[in-house]
Amino acid sequence: MNEQRITVPYLKTMKQHGEKITMLTAYDFLFAKLMDRAGVEILLVGDSLGMVFQGQENTLPVTLEEVIYHTRAVKRGTRRALVIADMPFLSYQVSVEEAVRNAGRLLKEGGADGVKLEGGVTAMRAIEQMTQAGIPVMGHVGLGPQSCKLLGGHKVQGKTVESIRALIRDAQAVEAAGAFSLVIEAVPWPVAKKITEAVSIPTLGIGAGPHCDGQVLVYADMLGLFTAFQPQFVRRFAPLGEAAAHAFQDYCQAVKDGSFPTLDESYSLDEEVLTALQETDLPRGKRNPS
Ligand code: KIV
Repeated sequence: MNEQRITVPYLKTMKQHGEKITMLTAYDFLFAKLMDRAGVEILLVGDSLGMVFQGQENTLPVTLEEVIYHTRAVKRGTRRALVIADMPFLSYQVSVEEAVRNAGRLLKEGGADGVKLEGGVTAMRAIEQMTQAGIPVMGHVGLGPQSCKLLGGHKVQGKTVESIRALIRDAQAVEAAGAFSLVIEAVPWPVAKKITEAVSIPTLGIGAGPHCDGQVLVYADMLGLFTAFQPQFVRRFAPLGEAAAHAFQDYCQAVKDGSFPTLDESYSLDEEVLTALQETDLPRGKRNPS
């Protein structure tokens, strides 16, 4: 596998050649390294870390500092994957100036190769200014989890002709503003297909069917580590959650019954030191006076 880092222009040629793009969320060094070595092209330090890593109810409490922290760890685990940092709630909505400064921090301090933000027409100005500043931006349309309060939950979007038109307008606005790619979240597959055909930038679907230019999943979902709920679109590629739970139970059992650690799993002493130790009078604790 080519070890050079994936670039923004390379992703566009992948779309042109009909080569599917793979993206997964990552929040730490160990998993980032496994994904990078497996050939995943884009690692997203998603604000989903609020739910998956921190155990929050939604993504709203996540801070810019937290995303910077996780982005650093993820970047250290990669040699090839493009690392995209998610802009958390209120880090880009208040003003364009603040949005550009915060996006810049994700690159300067986090080491991200680009940023992602939610929104279509409403996010245009921020995307334009970031792109002009040299910051690669990934758009995000369909379900925007940062609007979960407004939407009344994490619900499938684009179910009426009117809302489908609005979604296509949003996607085209994001492209016109300069975004290099676009996440489409939780929309019926025929809608994602139409959006993918309506833009020339690569689309990355999550709960958006097979016709997008690439796919993205939250890694904790596809490994069965996050079990609070399982959306219809998640495939469990490995039952790692169950395997880990069994391992933790086995560990508890082995410590309690004394079968862990064995002497082979312990440091020893040279034979002569051991003999000398047995013949030496060492200070004893008050509880073991003999
Ligand atoms: O934060 C995240 O994990 C995301 C994905 C759902 C695309 O935005």
